[in-house]
Amino acid sequence: MSLVSSTSAWAALAAHQKMMASVSVRGLFEQDPQRFERFHLRLDEIVFDYSKNRITAETLSLLLSLTEQAGLRARIEAMFTGEKINLTEKRAVLHVALRNRGNRPIVVDGQDVMPEVNRVLAKMKDFSERVRSGAWKGYTGKAITDIVNIGIGGSDLGPKMVTEALKPYARPDLRAHFVSNVDSTDLVETLKGLDPETTLFLVASKTFTTQETMTNAQSARDWLLGAAQDESAVARHFAAMSTNTREVKKFGIDPNNMFEFWDWVGGRYSLWSAIGLSIALYLGFEVFEELLEGAYRVDEHFRSAPFEQNIPVIMALLGTWYNNFWGADTYAILPYDQYLAHFPAYFQQGDMESNGKRVTRQGEVVDYSTGPIVWGQPGTNGQHAFYQLIHQGTKLIPCDFLVAANSHNPLGEHHSILVSHCLAQTEALMKGRTTEEARAELAAAGYTGAELDLLAAAKTFPGNIPTNTFLYPRLTPLVLGSLIALYEHKIFTQGVIWDINSYDQMGVELGKQLAKVILPELKGEGEVQSHDSSTNGLINLVKKMRA
Ligand code: F6P
Repeated sequence: MSLVSSTSAWAALAAHQKMMASVSVRGLFEQDPQRFERFHLRLDEIVFDYSKNRITAETLSLLLSLTEQAGLRARIEAMFTGEKINLTEKRAVLHVALRNRGNRPIVVDGQDVMPEVNRVLAKMKDFSERVRSGAWKGYTGKAITDIVNIGIGGSDLGPKMVTEALKPYARPDLRAHFVSNVDSTDLVETLKGLDPETTLFLVASKTFTTQETMTNAQSARDWLLGAAQDESAVARHFAAMSTNTREVKKFGIDPNNMFEFWDWVGGRYSLWSAIGLSIALYLGFEVFEELLEGAYRVDEHFRSAPFEQNIPVIMALLGTWYNNFWGADTYAILPYDQYLAHFPAYFQQGDMESNGKRVTRQGEVVDYSTGPIVWGQPGTNGQHAFYQLIHQGTKLIPCDFLVAANSHNPLGEHHSILVSHCLAQTEALMKGRTTEEARAELAAAGYTGAELDLLAAAKTFPGNIPTNTFLYPRLTPLVLGSLIALYEHKIFTQGVIWDINSYDQMGVELGKQLAKVILPELKGEGEVQSHDSSTNGLINLVKKMRA
């Protein structure tokens, strides 16, 4: 297959971009009072407004032709029916099976995966209910008060993001903690104030060989045994979520406390699997099920809605438009929702580990930009940090805004103020402020001459910055499940358009291998000479500086 950049659809978009370069979105709104009506979509409770983008109906139809060129419909079916679309690892990609609430059979290697999915869900339900009710006892007979999830990357970010996002559904007597960094500070600070008698560790690792996680898990085990002085306590205080039964057993975790998942669940798509156990424990299994249901609704939408009404497809096409035709290297995810504080970081891994690829599925080096740099933090804090650059800097940064109409914590005017800022930002980014408007404002304030000229230049905002807005009544488990799945399928769609494998992550391997060489060198005697002069120099200085 030839590169997408050499297709007629690509060429037509490049030509169209030249024409759109002189079009202002502000002007498009002035010409068309129905623009919002035309360019927003709804899925259950979620409204997706994409009208503040540099698009016309023609742009959309040209972008949609990319989906035909890429055979998107067939590729979606391939994913949903369990084809091994992760070609390098020869694996199916079936996070959709984990939330397949309709129980449609999904066959991998001649076997329907749903009975196993449902078996593990039932086991998670039973375990979480026993822990939450206090029936599960620690080694001294006390109920569990603190859950510590030990995992990294996809085995950390998802559960961490969701437990934070859905905190209003949690009970005050059960706390969830997350340890990911091999930096001992992470574990030591987390364990300060925790009681070994009432702490339950969840070792979350798809492979169960990740060095950071295994090191933290071993130290947590030592901490427990330091207090319990009895190996049998491990069975009361450790559970594992993994695909690797052999390694779990080797670590000494009771197989009854192991919650399986399968190689067709990608790490960064695993919060729907047993990796979500901390979610079920902290928030209750019904909340976890609601989350699955929200994602399932999006799966059905993604699979069946025409592409012009398909939210993840439109998200993906808009991202591609800016990434490939306007030179936007990054995009920002800006939740106006404190509970979504970890949402940008979650999709930083979700997107960048999936689509940070440089070769096609056939191994050909691409000549176009693939996955964007994803970043962001909650509004309004971001407004006082980096928005200046988005408004008036020299880089184009498309932004997604997420906001709930209602707060879980109504307090005076807070929520109205928050929402007003969110909406004002999307308006300001789109409209900007012309030099004439700036001059008029300054003149009205009494400025004249050179001072007015200088200030007018500084106060001019070009505007035309593209934004999407997700609006929902309240951040419920259902809404959150849907929001996550929308972004997941956006990532999938872009991977299809760019013809890359979104489901391996070979790029993280090299550093891991080299660290294994450096570790014994740090511990060993004498000068290290085996690397480049910088790495040698730094290793040798660390050795000298060590107390
Ligand atoms: O960062 C690489 C990676 O393999 C991620 O894809 C994964 O989420 C993370 O490491 C943790 O892996 P595991 O769940 O196997 O410990």
